[in-house]
Order: sequence, then structure tokens, then C-alpha cells
Amino acid sequence: MIPLFLMPAKMIGRRLQRVTRTRMQSDAELGSLMNERFNASGAMLSILYGSRRRDADEFGRHSGRLRDVGAKSAVYSRLFLIVVALLTALTTAVVYGLGGVLAVRGTLEIGTLVAMVALLMRLYGPINQLSSIQVGIMTALISFERIFEVLDLKPLIDDRGSAVPVRRGEQAPEVSFEGVTFRYPSEQISIASLEPAAEQTAGGPVLHDITFRMTAGSMTALVGPSGAGKTTISSLIPRLYDPTEGKVRLDGVDVRDLTLESLRDSVGVVSQDAHLFHDTIRANLLYGCPEAGPEDLEEACAQALILDTIRALPDGFDTVVGDRGYRLSGGEKQRLALARLLLKAPSVVVLDEATAHLDSENEAAIQRALRTTLAGRTSLVIAHRLSTVLSADQILVVADGRIREQGTHEQLLARGGIYHDLYRTQFATQKISAGSVDDALLGEPV
Ligand SMILES: Nc1ncnc2c1ncn2[C@@H]1O[C@H](COP(=O)(O)OP(=O)(O)OP(=O)(O)O)[C@@H](O)[C@H]1O
Ligand SMILES: [Mg+2]
Repeated sequence: MIPLFLMPAKMIGRRLQRVTRTRMQSDAELGSLMNERFNASGAMLSILYGSRRRDADEFGRHSGRLRDVGAKSAVYSRLFLIVVALLTALTTAVVYGLGGVLAVRGTLEIGTLVAMVALLMRLYGPINQLSSIQVGIMTALISFERIFEVLDLKPLIDDRGSAVPVRRGEQAPEVSFEGVTFRYPSEQISIASLEPAAEQTAGGPVLHDITFRMTAGSMTALVGPSGAGKTTISSLIPRLYDPTEGKVRLDGVDVRDLTLESLRDSVGVVSQDAHLFHDTIRANLLYGCPEAGPEDLEEACAQALILDTIRALPDGFDTVVGDRGYRLSGGEKQRLALARLLLKAPSVVVLDEATAHLDSENEAAIQRALRTTLAGRTSLVIAHRLSTVLSADQILVVADGRIREQGTHEQLLARGGIYHDLYRTQFATQKISAGSVDDALLGEPV
């Protein structure tokens, strides 16, 4: 009789498992949809380009799916209870029926029959509990499946067992790329159950045979058309990714042989769009260097030419910024990111200049801030400003993932190649607005 009770648990448990998996998936999809649409940039995009009806329809579709699957899961749970109750009632009826006939024939005493039914009733309780536990465990296993999928995911970038910390010398380190070819990783970073829509296909190489050397304390400018691979090259230095082939070296040591913590302490990055957390300016600045004191904070901000702007804010350093807080302008954000970098005091600096904020007022301020930031550090700057390019020790021209030209501004201009064209289209027009070009040409820090 016990198998009779365990059968529905098994059958319905399996269905419930499937439904639970779909429910969690729909829940995650709806969560990420809301997260994306309701953050500041998402909401702005949806106001400017979306239509209320379309957005409402999409939300309705997702929440409808979640409602349906929730109802299905409730029906299966009820169905299970009904089947178990029905089985209990039926078996009691059968025992009474058969036992009654036997009692009439005199084979079984009435007392024995009543005792049997009473014992049977006692047995049902634990059996029912056992079968609902089985169903509970089967659905809980789905949660475990999802959790372990994340826990078991091997980090793409990890310390080697033999990794050593970066040697901190007097001088900034030399950085070199040797025959680096790189393709973006695809499927191994996606989590199947968390990214249902991620149908990633492995792309071709983004970088081909990149070789160059940045001498200690020098500044290298990367220029090239959009999508050429400039940001990709810069992301290999702090090991956001590992090259598919070839090596990136810091003072001759392969970055894969250095501990990640020390590498990321030594390499400071200011990305194309400097992100700020929804927190105070102070907290944002201290994120990379929690032990810095208030004087260090002020000094870094003064060097990045953002101190006066911060002081003019309603709560100074305690002003809450970020998506949901006070919104700084693009140029201010970049300078705040520079201050964050100065506090961390890395010996290698990677800077992805923002293409926006090219107005002349900001230009002069950022240029001066840059000079203090980069002094004495080995730096790689993805340059969109003429003044930055002019102050670089070497310029690398990247196109289609390859280094096409390499040299100083004058050498490259004289060659009449890609740089010459780029200079005419992108940089030459900046002459008028870039008030700091002369400063840059003189090369003396202000
Ligand atoms: N995370 C990623 N996954 C897959 N491909 C990527 C990824 N990031 C960039 N790419 C691809 O790599 C190529 C180079 O991109 P990259 O961001 O390095 O260009 P870029 O030179 O910095 O351009 P821009 O000047 O517009 O910033 C592009 O074709 C881009 O589509
Ligand atoms: Mg880029």
C-alpha cells in the first residue's frame, strides 16, 4: 500500500519540478527586465524612444507568464493533496468493505476490524508527510541546481598557484605586449539557467598579433577608428581577460604569473564612462583605497581639479551621487574618476578618454589633471583629444585589431598614412577649441 502513496508524489513531484524551474526562470527574467528599465539610463531611454503601450505590453507578457506558471504550480500542489486524500479515503473504505464482509461471515471480529482501521489511520499521517517531504525535496533541488551552477562556475581569470606579487620598485614598470591575439570568450562565461536569452556565438579574433613596448614612465597613446580594439587592448593589462595567444608582460613578467590582487593594485583604470556608485562622493573616492585620510582625499581632488566643484555641491564630500543621486556632468565624473585613481596611486595607468566632453573649458582642466595623474607612471591612454596625442611619447594607430602605424606625431604625420587621415578628420578640427594644445606642446606640467 505504501508504494501506492509514493507514486503520486513521484509523478506530481516531477511535474512540479519542471514548473518550478520555469517559474524561477520567469521570475529572473521579470526581475532583470524591471532592473534594466527602471534604472536611470534605462528609464531615460524608454522615455525618449519607447512607447508606453509597448513597454506595458512587454511587462504584461512577462508578468503574465509568471502568473500562469504560478497558477500551474499551485494547481499541481493542490492536486497532490487531493490525490493523497482520495487514496486515504479509498483505502479506508476498502478495508471497511472487505473487513465488514469478513465480519458478517464471522471470520473477523468487529473489534479487530475497528482496531485495524484505527491503526491504518495512524499510519496515514507519517506516510502523507513522507510523500509531501519528497515533493518538497524535489522542488528544492531545483533551487540547489541554480545555486550550484553559479558556485561551480570557474572564474575566467584566477591566480596561478605559483603566482608572485608585483615587484614595487622605485620606477614605474615597463609594460610590453608580445604577439597578442585575442578573441572574446563566449559560452564558458554564461550561466545557462540565468541567461536564457544568451545565445552567444564564438566570435573571431578581435586582436591580431599585437606587439609593442611601453617603457617605464612613458605615455603611449592609442588611436584608431571606433571598434578597432583599443579598449580591448587596454583591458588585457589589468587582466580583465587573458590573451588567447601571446603574452602581456609587466617588467618582463607575464601578468598571468602575478597575483591578481597586486596586479590590480598596480594598474589603475579610468574607463570610457566613469561609473559612480549610488553613494556619497567620499565613499566613491575611498572605494579603491579605504585607508586614505581626509587630507589625501582633498589633495587627490585638487590634483584632479575637481575639489572646487565638490566644495560647491550642497553637501560637499557627503553629497550622494550616482544614478539615483546628484548627477555630475560627464567631465566632472571623469575628473572624479581621476581623483579615485590618484588616491590608489597605481604605477601603471590605463585611461580610456571619453569621446564626449570635448568642450574647451573642460579640455584645459582635464588636460592639466591628466598631466599630474600620469607623471612618473607608465600610461596607456586611448586618446580622442589632440592635446593628449601630442603629449604622448609614442602613438599606436590601431585598425581592425592590428597595430598599423607606430611613432610620434611628427613621424606619423610625415608618413601620410592612416594617422594622417585620422588627424585631418578627427583631431585637426580640435585645434580651435583645444586651448591647452600649446601647453601640451610645451610639455611642462602646470
Ligand atoms: N565583451 C565583448 N564581447 C564580445 N565582443 C566584444 C566585447 N567588447 C568588444 N567587443 C568587440 O571587439 C571589437 C573591439 O572593441 P573595442 O571596445 O576594443 O573597440 P574600441 O577601439 O575601444 O572602440 P571605441 O573607440 O568605439 O571605444 C568590436 O568589434 C566589438 O564589437
Ligand atoms: Mg573603446
